[in-house]
Amino acid sequence: MTFQADLLFGRTALITGGGTGICRGIALALAAHGCDVAIMSRSAEHLAPTADEIRATGRRAVAVPADVRDPAAVEAAVTRTVEELGGLDILVNGAAGNFLCLAEQLSPNGFGAVVDIDLKGTFHCSKAVLPHLKKNGGVVLNISATLHYLGTPAQLHVAAAKAGVDALTRVLAVEWGPYGIRVNGIAPGPIADTEGVRRLLDDAAKQRAEKTTPLQRLGLIKDVSDAALFLCSKAASYITGVTLVVDGGLWLTSSRHAFAAPPEAP
Ligand code: NAP
Ligand code: COA
Repeated sequence: MTFQADLLFGRTALITGGGTGICRGIALALAAHGCDVAIMSRSAEHLAPTADEIRATGRRAVAVPADVRDPAAVEAAVTRTVEELGGLDILVNGAAGNFLCLAEQLSPNGFGAVVDIDLKGTFHCSKAVLPHLKKNGGVVLNISATLHYLGTPAQLHVAAAKAGVDALTRVLAVEWGPYGIRVNGIAPGPIADTEGVRRLLDDAAKQRAEKTTPLQRLGLIKDVSDAALFLCSKAASYITGVTLVVDGGLWLTSSRHAFAAPPEAP
């Protein structure tokens, strides 16, 4: 018996933040399963190499530089994606910003920048793809986090933004279900070799996180891209409105705060 990697053959996806890190992994995994992929972020330099890697899998790729905070730019990026790929079936909202900062020291712009990218960006992109996903049904996948499940210090801005993202996942699942659109999320724990972990964990914190995680290791980008493949595929046909935690069980442990080593308060 032969097996084909064709879970998403003939489908098209737009992935924000798809040039780097976790969402680059998702872009390559979807392409490996037959999906044509557009990737969008601010920097053309982040996008071009990943677009080339997607093309090397034999699928079509489009690199669209745009800022998710700008609804007009998002609209134009979606239009270009549909023109070049001939339609749109899947949106992955992965664009995000993060840095460690105690609430006491966080400026209005610092809080606003992260909420604007993670939460409002997810709203802008989801709204922009709706007319296209309505045509044949589709999938929206929001990349969230687990930071807001407990009171993770120095992550107020991200926790607030991702809590909002989880709310969008649930509300849009209800509103758009009748259009045949499934809306789900993935909440990764710390994922090795990513910008997120580089910003949040030093070596000691990584070791603490490995010990604290029930599965005794940091996550891999593949752990998240496998979950994304599942939620984007027909294997998840009856699943909507959920955020799947992919963290080796870390958020269930009470000592998880150890992984974010906050700066000292003044
Ligand atoms: P990353 O590589 O830095 O990914 C973030 C992406 O967002 C970049 O490609 C960046 O590209 C893009 N981006 C940032 N601001 C943007 C904007 N205004 N408009 C458009 N694109 C923008 O980081 P990552 O660690 O892989 O994180 C990916 C996702 O996983 C994020 O949603 C993050 O919150 C989530 N997550 C990560 C971890 C982890 O351990 N890494 C844990 C939990 C959740 P440009 O600079 O080119 O714009
Ligand atoms: N600590 C405290 N505040 C910070 C900060 C930090 N480490 N980094 C940025 N800020 C504040 C800035 O000071 C500014 O506020 P101010 O005007 O009051 O000074 C505000 O955040 C916006 O900063 P700016 O650099 O203008 O934002 P930007 O739109 O260019 O970039 C960020 C957005 C800040 C989220 C930037 O880190 C980014 O582009 N991140 C993308 C990659 C990433 O974070 N990957 C990990 C994903 S998990």
